[in-house]
Amino acid sequence: MPGNLLPIVQSVLRLRAQVSAWRERGASVALVPTMGALHDGHISLIRLAKIQADRVVASVFVNPRQFGVGEDFEAYPRTELADAQRLTEAGCDLMYAPPAAEMYPDGFSTTVSVRGVSEGLCGAARPGHFDGVATVVSKLLIQVAPDVAIFGEKDYQQLAVIRRLTRDLDLTPKIIGAPIARASDGLALSSRNAYLDDAQRARAPRMYRVLTEAALALSAGDPVERVQAAARAALDACGFDQVDYLEVRNADTLQPPPDGPITRTVRVLAAVRLGRTRLIDNVAAEPPR
Ligand code: PAJ
Repeated sequence: MPGNLLPIVQSVLRLRAQVSAWRERGASVALVPTMGALHDGHISLIRLAKIQADRVVASVFVNPRQFGVGEDFEAYPRTELADAQRLTEAGCDLMYAPPAAEMYPDGFSTTVSVRGVSEGLCGAARPGHFDGVATVVSKLLIQVAPDVAIFGEKDYQQLAVIRRLTRDLDLTPKIIGAPIARASDGLALSSRNAYLDDAQRARAPRMYRVLTEAALALSAGDPVERVQAAARAALDACGFDQVDYLEVRNADTLQPPPDGPITRTVRVLAAVRLGRTRLIDNVAAEPPR
């Protein structure tokens, strides 16, 4: 039998009642949106949230609108009880786990679509994905109305999309980006790592190594185009089934930087496929001093 679990609410009404009760007592509130199948990366966000606010809400919702046709919506791991246990241990105060009909009732017709930052990179390989993310995150930010919301830099383009929509829609929560939690061999933790077989799992950390080497070369003053070409070749040679992209982008705008040595902080971002699993990662590079 599980010990005492944190409260789990499934309706917006009950969620709002709890958040209002906290607010009446003067407590600040943080939100950590997730799709569940929680791992140490998610838990690092909860820890950061606890430093930022008095009360922490984690949402667990496998959002159908951000999965494309033929993607892994059905297969996506659903581990609600284990998630509740992990959230309880981490000191989270409330798990918000709405059913799909609560989030998208009959007649639901609104899409939040962010141009610019959502184009290219993962947006190119996953049409409609960021519309689904932007729509559900807008709803979560409005439903919970937290003081802060925490998102991982692991999904760097997603974080940029969320920063943009928050500014554009005058939403008040402060958006905080959290560093990427990694396994000891460098692989970024991800719920989708569970799909990898042993051979794939052994190959997966090569992407991080390529990204790290590219970031070091950029910080040493090597020109962007040369580093990008070398890193693409290195990634192609890693034995992944497909390389979706490897790009150097400005860290704030996600636009390509001019060629030559970098003069601003950039991010080296990549996505690859191993069998049916799509893995993404990114590493920061600071300009040479
Ligand atoms: P999910 O993939 O469950 O991730 C939830 C949050 O955890 C995201 O902000 C993600 O960037 C962060 N995260 C995942 N792996 C991480 C790692 N290794 N280190 C640090 N943070 C990590 O991202 C989503 O869900 C969804 O798109 C969501 C924002 C919940 C909207 O449905």
